[in-house]
Formats: sequence, C-alpha cells, structure tokens
Amino acid sequence: MKQITDFPNLALGVLPTPLYRLDNVSREFGKNIYIKRDDMTGVALGGNKVRKLEFLLADAKAKGADVVLTAGGPQSNHAMLTAACASRLGMRAILVLKKRGELTGGNQVLNAIYGADVRFVDTDSYDDVYAEMERIMDGLRAEGRTPYFIPVGGSVPLGCLGYVNCALEIANQAEELGVRFDAVVSATGSGGTYAGLTYGAKLFLPGCRSVGIGVCDDPFADIAFDLMQGTRELLESDVPVERDDIHIEYEIGPGYAIPSPEGCAAVRRLARLEGILVDPVYTGKALAGFFRLLESGYFGDSEDILFVHTGGAGALFAVDLV
Ligand SMILES: Cc1ncc(COP(=O)(O)O)c(C=O)c1O
Repeated sequence: MKQITDFPNLALGVLPTPLYRLDNVSREFGKNIYIKRDDMTGVALGGNKVRKLEFLLADAKAKGADVVLTAGGPQSNHAMLTAACASRLGMRAILVLKKRGELTGGNQVLNAIYGADVRFVDTDSYDDVYAEMERIMDGLRAEGRTPYFIPVGGSVPLGCLGYVNCALEIANQAEELGVRFDAVVSATGSGGTYAGLTYGAKLFLPGCRSVGIGVCDDPFADIAFDLMQGTRELLESDVPVERDDIHIEYEIGPGYAIPSPEGCAAVRRLARLEGILVDPVYTGKALAGFFRLLESGYFGDSEDILFVHTGGAGALFAVDLV
C-alpha cells in the first residue's frame, strides 16, 4: 500500500486542526461528543475543501497548469476555497457556477476579494455547467494556457485523499487524548469528504463507524462506494471497501441550500452552547441530523462520537436564518 506522503501535497492548510470535547453539548445529550475543527483549516474562512485542494492543486502544478476551473452553486464554499488557494499559488481561478440561489453576498464577496473570474450558467444541471467549462478550456488551450479541471466539490479519489489524511490526523489526536472513537459524523454534499473519511477510518480508526449526513438527495451510499473504491485503487490498498462501511442519513429540509428550521435551530444551539459557528447549508443541517440521531438513541450511551465541522461560515452572510 502507498502512504499518503507518497502523493504530492502542497500543504496549503494549517494542520492539524483542533479536536476537543464539546463539554456543554455532551452534558445536554448525556454522551461524549467531540468536534474536529476543520472550519479552521487556515485558508479564507477554513473548511473541508482545503484538504482536498492540497492534493488536487499539487496535481495541477505537476501538470503545468496555470488556470484552474471548478464548478458549484453561487454560494459554493468549494469554489471560493479553490479561488483562495489558487491565488496563493499564483494561478488564475475560473469559477463556473449555477445561476440558482443567492448570487451576491457571502462567498461571492470572498470570490471578488480573491479576484476570481466568476461565470454563471443559467441551468439546474451540472451537465450544462461542465459543457460550458469544456468550451472555456478549449478557448484557454487555444491561447496557449494550461487549464486544470476540478469537478464539483473536488470529489474525485485524489481529493478524497485529503480526508484519508484527516482520518490519520484524528487517529493521532485520539491517541493523544486517550479516546477511542466509536463514530465519526460529517456533512455530505458531493460525497468526497465522507468517502475519504470512511475509507480512512477503516484504515486508521478501527471500530469507528463513519456516518454521513446528506444535505441533498443524491444517492450518497453509491457515490461514496465508488469514490472509496477509487481511493483504495489510488492507494493500492488491499483493505476492501464494503457496503457495510457506509452509513448515510439525510437532513435536507425543504431542499439543498434552502435553510430549514431544524438546521437553523442547530446553528443557534451550537453557537449558544459552545460559541462555535456553523452554516445553515451544510454543517448546520448535518448538525441537525446529528442531534436528531443523538435524541433517537442511534448512538450507544457510552460511545465517544466525533462531529467533523467542515466549515462553510461564508454562507451565514448570504442567507437568512429561519
Ligand atoms: C461547508 C461544507 N461542508 C461539507 C461539504 C460536503 O463535502 P463534500 O462535498 O465532500 O461531500 C461541503 C461541500 O460541498 C461544504 O462546503
């Protein structure tokens, strides 16, 4: 099996991110609940995508790319973080975004600060967005530029390595704290974070199940299975990917990126209990799903559970809490 360190990584993040016990949340739910602060990855407002981009942009650099293109919704945290990381590397970023949702404020302010080239496509389908990206890339190649394509969320096996790496980081921190995690819970939007974390948990966190909370209605069990297989192949690992490794719950509310009363209540609850901010699109809904599972007896009484805060604070300034 290859080691994560065998893959080029640009070390863009400030890692390891903190991991500690949430004393007030633990008291409220009568469980041992910890948080992994991947909202503090050290670029822009932090977030999970920095870990993926460390590997993806290393690949882009190795291929001589000078322009990076990615896709997302108008408030995409991934697109904004791609722009932030690209700026730092002296690369141009073109963000091709679906013209649906909040087109100003929040991450759009940050995209402008980073000087990203933002293009909107009036569609509901990523097929149209990707077709537009192909057109843009053809034009760039004709000008002698070298574009690098990153799909929505950076959810390809190379990006998933960022979260295999995170699982290793968690294993080291758990050892230092003297904790053995029974479960790790994370938000799932395009599947890469969950897939990397789940395969990484299998490698480095024995006995720890990985629970993903889907914030849109994509078939995440299948998506994660395929991404985990791709990650296993990349690592040339003999450790198999099994359907039983995958535990997906959903917390979508009225729809993707539409704030839900439960998600917004979770935003307020975590802020007031622990002083930590989460966003209403990803982490807030994942937290609402996590709280629901805690209340429903999904986790055993003596279990040590880790919630991964994947960031997204920029969206707090683009949507109204309900
Ligand atoms: C803040 C935040 N949390 C979680 C996710 C989900 O990660 P993934 O797309 O890897 O499933 C995303 C991105 O989509 C995100 O921006």
